[in-house]
Amino acid sequence: MAFKKDFLWGASTSAYQVEGGYNEGGKGASVQDVKKIPDGTPDFKVCSDHYHRYKEDIKLFNELGLKAYRFSIAWTRILPTGDGEVNKEGIDFYNNIINECKKYNIEPIVTMYHFDLPYELDKVGGWSNDKTVDAFEKFAKVLFENYGDRVKYWLTINEQNIMTLMGSVIGTGDSSEIYQDNHRMLLAQAKAMILCHKMLPNAKIGPAPNISAVYPNSNTPEDNLAAQYANVHRNWQFLDACVFGIYNKLALEMIKSQGYKLEISEDDIKILKNAKPDFIAFNYYNTSTVKASQKINDSTKIDQQNMSGVNGFFEQVDNKNLQKTEFGWEVDPVGFRVTLNEIYSRYNLPLMITENGLGAYDKLEDGKVHDDYRIKYLKDHIEQMRRATESGVEILSYNPWSAIDLISTHEGFLKRYGFIYVDRDNESEKTLNRYKKDSFFWYKKVIESNGEELD
Ligand code: BG6
Repeated sequence: MAFKKDFLWGASTSAYQVEGGYNEGGKGASVQDVKKIPDGTPDFKVCSDHYHRYKEDIKLFNELGLKAYRFSIAWTRILPTGDGEVNKEGIDFYNNIINECKKYNIEPIVTMYHFDLPYELDKVGGWSNDKTVDAFEKFAKVLFENYGDRVKYWLTINEQNIMTLMGSVIGTGDSSEIYQDNHRMLLAQAKAMILCHKMLPNAKIGPAPNISAVYPNSNTPEDNLAAQYANVHRNWQFLDACVFGIYNKLALEMIKSQGYKLEISEDDIKILKNAKPDFIAFNYYNTSTVKASQKINDSTKIDQQNMSGVNGFFEQVDNKNLQKTEFGWEVDPVGFRVTLNEIYSRYNLPLMITENGLGAYDKLEDGKVHDDYRIKYLKDHIEQMRRATESGVEILSYNPWSAIDLISTHEGFLKRYGFIYVDRDNESEKTLNRYKKDSFFWYKKVIESNGEELD
């Protein structure tokens, strides 16, 4: 048997995408509640109404056979203004979620911050303000005090790298000081990890970036060099700082060349070095491919730093060897194994997959959803994860995105990922009734057989 007996087969959601109840139970506004919503997609007021239906949903998760449920805690339910008074109703809500999971022997895996910075903190600069670092540490303390007796696995920040490299796209920020802001997030994360180890010696904590291998477009030495830089830019700079407490030199070279501000004090480095994650959690959807950048590097100009390239270092290109989803995302199960192998080789820490999945236009027909495309996607990825496990890569848990349909960042309910269909669309909330998709029954068998039966 490839997977250990206690392997945590799970599934994933995030608070602002699944809960709704946006102003109930004393919740404060987050940046997601106030951002400009793309035309034709719904806001985050109702989502999948998990806030009111969590009991029904967790009962379904139990029927699915989940051994773990990865969800996030809305910072603004716990501290409505980000760092003021603790909101008891918010504390109770997650107590209920955790207790409901425990009732069914489902291990809660808790993300502390998934794209939903409190709006009150954003108003005073968000991650550009040192106060947000203190606020996050306070938030962490409240979580550890209230839930540490039942939650063993903690994830600090979801996709810090995407917030840094593509903040404007997901509504979490964008500025010429983005690397200074990223540095504050690294400090906040380090402080939370140190605090967790102090307060909860038996708990485990780690980061949750979006990591995926970057390929060179050809075997020219120039393209290979471009891929090396792109890997550092997209992946390693974030994990090197989290695991080793160091700034990757190639990252610093790129950051400086683009004119970004980044000041790091010796005290900050001490904090980063004192913090050690117990595992690396990561989200994986697809790889990317780059070629050498043809542009001339103009060091006086600040470029929009993003995933698609860094002026003078690399440029992203399509990979002609890979198929794409209906939403244009490349599909690369072997790349998943490449990524697992690479992270494990670099950091030698246990891994946890916190997201992986296929967004598609699912159709409800006579109460059924025939999502064989999703089954194929997940099957191919689990197969590669199995092979990585067999070569010695230590993996604790696999949590596909998503446990249940929820709002996708850009397409709302048009693009679905769940094992459970939610009857609503972008135009109206309809019945919000839940239906088990074909992938639900398939994943149930996968879990029952501990990953042996994939067909
Ligand atoms: C991850 C995020 O980047 O991708 C999720 O952590 C997100 O919050 C998921 O929903 C899928 O992206 P999208 O844009 O298809 O919803």
